[in-house]
Amino acid sequence: MDIIAYMQERRREIDRNLDRLLPPETQHPATIHRAMRYSIFAGGKRLRPILALAAGECLGGRRDTLLDLGSAIEMIHTYSLIHDDLPALDNDDFRRGVPTCHRVFGEAMAILAGDSLMTRCYQLLVDLPGLSDSVRLSIIREVAAATGTIDGMIGGQVVDLESEGKDVDRTLLDYIHRSKTGALLTVCTRCGGLAAGAAAPELAALTEYGRNVGLAFQIVDDILDVTETSENLGKTAGKDEQVRKATYPALYGLDASRKRAGELVERAIGEIGRFGERAEPLRALARFIMDRST
Ligand code: IPE
Ligand code: IPE
Ligand code: MG
Ligand code: MG
Ligand code: MG
Repeated sequence: MDIIAYMQERRREIDRNLDRLLPPETQHPATIHRAMRYSIFAGGKRLRPILALAAGECLGGRRDTLLDLGSAIEMIHTYSLIHDDLPALDNDDFRRGVPTCHRVFGEAMAILAGDSLMTRCYQLLVDLPGLSDSVRLSIIREVAAATGTIDGMIGGQVVDLESEGKDVDRTLLDYIHRSKTGALLTVCTRCGGLAAGAAAPELAALTEYGRNVGLAFQIVDDILDVTETSENLGKTAGKDEQVRKATYPALYGLDASRKRAGELVERAIGEIGRFGERAEPLRALARFIMDRST
């Protein structure tokens, strides 16, 4: 399948939905709504909502439910990027090809824009259409855990920051990557499955797929930081080495990192064999995660 065309079309649909779900720029107090929209619509691959849609559609889930689910998760992801870029964290000036939120709106407004994208996410999850209260609760529980402090996004960010300039071993590096990035990607496929009424074995397959592509995704992010230009990435390249971040290329070198990412992607594809033809988008997305250059 033509994964680039597939992603482009999905991206358009997701962007329309995000536009519908975010307060307009004119809504009082306008500054915060401008800042939220600035970072959301700066660009982005929309990989997380695309994964949630692809996982849910594998099991015949409702498009409108999955679109709202994916859009809510994209808001949380964008919040994590805005905060990741703050001077107190990675201190980056560019994101998605434009100056970072705090460079344009100031630090206070960037912190609040991140906060408000997170709260908007949960508002949307509470109102997800077409689901029972118990499924909605499960989804909210999962998203909160995946972005929290125990094996979740914030936990991973903490250890990422505390490991700067230090020698880390394989176990700690995998903890950082699986938590700061893998957990949110895994929750996309899991919640896509939950929203589509997945049975336990289906959910287990989607979980393993998510865990494998989740780790592969951050390994490739580390590789691209070394091999690509800032212009191509839309964010400052070469930063990881500069501040001695704990990364795959730093610990294993580029070739071994590529090999590991490739193995994880193959394993992810192996996990979803049971879904047959319907999982073709998930297979193509796994390969995209490996082959991407942005
Ligand atoms: C960047 O994520 C942050 C990481 C978790 C590595 P993406 O590469 O998905 O960023 P966008 O959404 O496309 O901008
Ligand atoms: C970011 O990891 C992970 C989160 C935002 C949670 P990075 O710090 O490597 O992401 P980039 O390279 O700035 O996009
Ligand atoms: Mg970071
Ligand atoms: Mg960063
Ligand atoms: Mg990075």
